Amino acid sequence: MTETSKPVLLSGIQPSGHLCIGNYVGALKNWVTLQSSHKSIFLVVDLHALTVKQVPSELRNRCLSFLAQYIACGIDPEQSLMVIQSHVSQHAELSWVLSSLTYMGELNRMTQFKEKSTRHNENINAALFSYPILMAADILLYQADLVPVGADQKQHLELARDIAQRFNHNYSETFTVPQPYIPKQGARIMSLQDPASKMSKSDKNLNNLISILDPPDVIRKKIKRAVTDSGKEIIYQPEDKPGLANLLVLFSVLTNKKIQNIVADYQGKMYSHLKEDLGEIAVEVLAPIQDEYSKIIKDKKYLNGILKNGAEQASYIARKTMSKVYRKVGLVPYPR
Ligand code: TRP
Repeated sequence: MTETSKPVLLSGIQPSGHLCIGNYVGALKNWVTLQSSHKSIFLVVDLHALTVKQVPSELRNRCLSFLAQYIACGIDPEQSLMVIQSHVSQHAELSWVLSSLTYMGELNRMTQFKEKSTRHNENINAALFSYPILMAADILLYQADLVPVGADQKQHLELARDIAQRFNHNYSETFTVPQPYIPKQGARIMSLQDPASKMSKSDKNLNNLISILDPPDVIRKKIKRAVTDSGKEIIYQPEDKPGLANLLVLFSVLTNKKIQNIVADYQGKMYSHLKEDLGEIAVEVLAPIQDEYSKIIKDKKYLNGILKNGAEQASYIARKTMSKVYRKVGLVPYPR
């Protein structure tokens, strides 16, 4: 490894649903900014996706599609590693060891488990429960310093830190204790039809989200139909007018304009003006990404090369960590 001086950055997205403009603004865009100052690893966490029922052929295609979308959004394969989680078997191995250091009580407190087990109450499986341990393994395996995540993942990251500290304390200094990187409030895009909840790539109602790959007309239509609030005036009031506030936030992050300036520009105009303009802006931002995507997704050889390089380099780091871990917990080294 050459660039040992740069801090290690690691993040991942679960390949379920459709990557959406919320992922772009809240995650991918930040990854692109951070990648040059870090040794970055971006995962497609396919093992995590198995916690909910998947159609196997769709899952396989979606993993490649997500990878191509990472690249189309600006992740540079020359600078950053892109890895499909299951290609590095040590994720699952480390997860097992870490599960012996994680208490049931800790997992029971995870709000995302509570929320997901309500949503998927027909399939509350053990992997859904131990999901945060696998996530801790993802992070600790590569000795990550910085982990960009949405606010909803903060609790999982705290658990990863606790597990790392516990291991270091029980055995000896082994893991870097990771720092969360949580983007500012403004980067949190909410559902278009239900601005009280986060825009989710796995939402069954596709009108709630703008997919990175939605065609221009679909994008315009979804924004036009987004719920806004009673009243006419264009003002930023997240409490009283959450729908409008969400559109203003999206407008602001896509144009890098301050919300107060946008509000000033739309004085005396109607919601429909704002929506029409925002539709065009979203189309414009996504067009080059979609262009790039359509080229990349056809080039299986190129994608394969990136995955192979990612898997090889990641495996190298992962093997080093795992052999340390197995030795420290008292397992017999592989005979040579
Ligand atoms: N649990 C994360 C999410 O749902 C995805 C994830 C898995 C992740 N492993 C990770 C994020 C490691 C950051 C680092 O958003």
